[in-house]
Amino acid sequence: MRAVKLLMLVGLIGFSCTAQAENKMLEMVTQKGCFICHSVQAKTGPAIPLAPAYADIAERFKDKTDAVSYLAQRILKGTIDTQQDWSGQVNMRFMPPNLNVTAEEATQLATWVMSIKKDTISEEVIKHEGMLGLAAQNGCIACHGMSKEADSHYIPLAPPFSEVSARYKGNAEAKAVLAESIVQGTVNKEKKWPDVNMRFMPPNPTLKQEDVDKLVEWILSL
Ligand code: HEC
Ligand code: HEC
Repeated sequence: MRAVKLLMLVGLIGFSCTAQAENKMLEMVTQKGCFICHSVQAKTGPAIPLAPAYADIAERFKDKTDAVSYLAQRILKGTIDTQQDWSGQVNMRFMPPNLNVTAEEATQLATWVMSIKKDTISEEVIKHEGMLGLAAQNGCIACHGMSKEADSHYIPLAPPFSEVSARYKGNAEAKAVLAESIVQGTVNKEKKWPDVNMRFMPPNPTLKQEDVDKLVEWILSL
C-alpha cells in the first residue's frame, strides 16, 4: 500500500516537473517571438501558415540523427542562404536569423521542437500556446513572465503571472479586481507589487472585454 502511494507521489512530482519545464519552454518561445510566425500544432483551415508548425518540423526530422544540432543552427542563422525547405507549405520565403537567441537557448529550443509529438500534444500546451499568443499580441509579455525565474538576478519589471495567481487564490473579488487593473492600469493607484521594477502598469483601453476575461481566467489558472 505504502509502495503504491509512494509511486503515485513520485508520478505526480514527475508530472508537475515536466509540466513546469514545458511551461518554461512555451514561455521562452513566446518571449523570443517564435509564435509570431510558428504554432505548435498545424492550424486547420484553408489559410497557408507563415511558418511550419513545430509538430510538423518534429515529424519531418524525426529520423535525422543530428536533428537537434542541425535545427539549432537553423534557428540561430535563419534560412536565408539556403533553398526553401518548406516551399509550397508556408507563406514566408525564409526564416530570418533569430538574433535574440543564444547558442544554448537554440539547443534548448531545438530539443523542445523535436520532443513534440503530433498526436499527443496535451490540451495544456494548446491552451497555453493560445493564451501566450494573446498575451504576446497585446504586449503583456513585454513586462510579465509566466513564472518566476528562480535563477535570475534581475528584479522583474512586473509580477510573473503565476505569482499573481498565488496572491489572489481564494479571493472572491479576484476576477473583478484583476480585470479592472488590466483595463484601467494602475497609474493612480497605490502600488500593489513592491518587488517589481516598474511603478505601475499602463492602461490597456483597446483590449476587448472578451479577451480581458480570457486573460484573467488564464492568469488565475497558472
Ligand atoms: C518571421 C517569421 C519567423 C520567426 C519569428 C521564426 N521563424 Fe522559424 N521558420 C520560419 C519559416 C518561414 C520557416 C521555413 C523556412 C524554409 O522554408 O526554409 C521556419 C523554419 C523553422 C524551423 C525548421 C528549419 C528547417 O530547416 O526546416 C525551425 C526549427 C524553426 N523555424 C524554429 C524557430 C524558433 C525556435 C523561432 C524563435 C526563436 C523561430 N523559428 C522564429 C519563420 C519564422
Ligand atoms: C509596461 C509594462 C506592463 C505591461 C505592458 C503590462 N503590465 Fe501588467 N503589470 C505591470 C506592473 C508594473 C504591475 C504591478 C503594478 C503594481 O505594483 O501596482 C502589473 C500588474 C498586473 C496584474 C496584477 C494587478 C493587481 O491588481 O494585482 C495583472 C493581472 C496584470 N498586470 C496583467 C497584465 C496583462 C493581462 C497585460 C496585457 C494586456 C499586462 N499586464 C501588461 C506592468 C505591465
